[in-house]
Amino acid sequence: MSFAPVPSGVTAKPIPGERGLPVLGVSGKMMRDPLGLRQEQYERHGPVNWFQAFGMRQVGLLGPDAAELVAINRDKAFGQGWEPILGTFFPKGVLLLDFEEHLHRRRLMQNTFSPERLGGYLRRMQTGITRDVRGWRPGARFLAREAVHDTLLNVSTGTFLDIGNPGDAARVGEAFVNTVRGPYTMMRLPLPGTQWSKALRGRRLLEEYTASQIPAKHAGDGDDVFSALCHSRDEQGHGLSEEDLVNQIIFLMMAAHETTTSALSSMIYFLGRHPEWQDRLREESLSLDEQLDLKDLDQLATCDMVMKESVRRFPPISELARRTVKDTEVHGHFIPAGTAVSVSVLFNHHMEEYWPDPMTWDPGRFAADRREDKSHRFAWTPFGGGVHKCIGLHFASLQIKAVMHQLVRNFSWRLPEGYRLRTDWSGPPAPKDGLPVVLSRIG
Ligand code: HEM
Repeated sequence: MSFAPVPSGVTAKPIPGERGLPVLGVSGKMMRDPLGLRQEQYERHGPVNWFQAFGMRQVGLLGPDAAELVAINRDKAFGQGWEPILGTFFPKGVLLLDFEEHLHRRRLMQNTFSPERLGGYLRRMQTGITRDVRGWRPGARFLAREAVHDTLLNVSTGTFLDIGNPGDAARVGEAFVNTVRGPYTMMRLPLPGTQWSKALRGRRLLEEYTASQIPAKHAGDGDDVFSALCHSRDEQGHGLSEEDLVNQIIFLMMAAHETTTSALSSMIYFLGRHPEWQDRLREESLSLDEQLDLKDLDQLATCDMVMKESVRRFPPISELARRTVKDTEVHGHFIPAGTAVSVSVLFNHHMEEYWPDPMTWDPGRFAADRREDKSHRFAWTPFGGGVHKCIGLHFASLQIKAVMHQLVRNFSWRLPEGYRLRTDWSGPPAPKDGLPVVLSRIG
């Protein structure tokens, strides 16, 4: 069964594929085993195929060549495809914009991640990270994913918004958590008590709070991300409008928090399974001061490899959503305008052509003498590529390293006997059980 008829005069081939189950399509398998699903689709239909999931017919693009084509977007055929997923709760967020409108916002936002700004964020976040991580309670079933989630949330309210008042921080934190759950809610009814209505209320509170802070941010010279965003100017001296400032700071917090929580959880899981790597990280961190500055981050080379390999196995954004804005072709297949397209980072990170023994967690792949990620420019793309490439990747790396640095200096951990990881794929991959580990304090 093909996806759409090819218009006469067009030489490209139709797209092969299959719907899957009636109504549900392949939604179930996508939630349970997205990698297995993609591998099956690739074997049966090749790198360009169609399927139905979550009520939408979509075209899946598999392999780094297709990913590169979409990222480079030479004929400007691919617009963003995140609107149906994120549009209600993160309207006009930079990832949801296209072309000129997108580039203008993106440039203004990139200013907030200059090396000087990053140094300031690192100083600011380390106090909170050190205090929080040291306060983790050792035990036989310490829920590591939950602890990372909460620590990063505390750090976010400080680093992004500089909320000093603990009551405000708690209110905003709760609203944020509810808002972020919104896109993954199945029951989309604004009835009292539902997750959907909590998420809508959370979003409203975030809007009100951030809008109320804008005058003070403009007037001051704070070293938090929101202050930096309020002061950012383009070449003509124009900044973001008030509405844009609100939309972009809420989007930034969401983009930062869920992804970084996922990456750190995966690292903790794999390091619990491979204590020899945990020891190497500890040795590396103990050779540095307790508080890091920007140049120390380069010394954390082993931590860097562990981070890269963990997000290869579990990319926090496993699929990139796009929509064609005009008819186009990929690998000789015709894709009509208006098609939802999904580029699978997860699949590309596990292709045997580029990653020998792809299911094995092996940070040494990223060592200078191996560099398997160089096998193709788009073989390893946890941060995407092209015009929408993650603007927070350096921020993410410094935050992850700052947390890991404190964690390995203060604790050791292992997985409980016979532990089997079960992953929730409805958003950034997350252990379904909160990742219980046996946590012990060192010294
Ligand atoms: C391990 C952590 C992270 C991962 C794996 C990650 C991954 C990604 C990916 C794959 C994209 C591109 C999505 C697409 O093309 O459809 C993206 C975009 C983005 N990320 Fe990240 N991200 C991370 C952390 C962060 C952090 C910490 C921030 C902010 C401080 C951030 C801000 C953004 C923004 C604003 C965009 C949209 C850029 C645009 O549309 O131009 N991310 N991220």
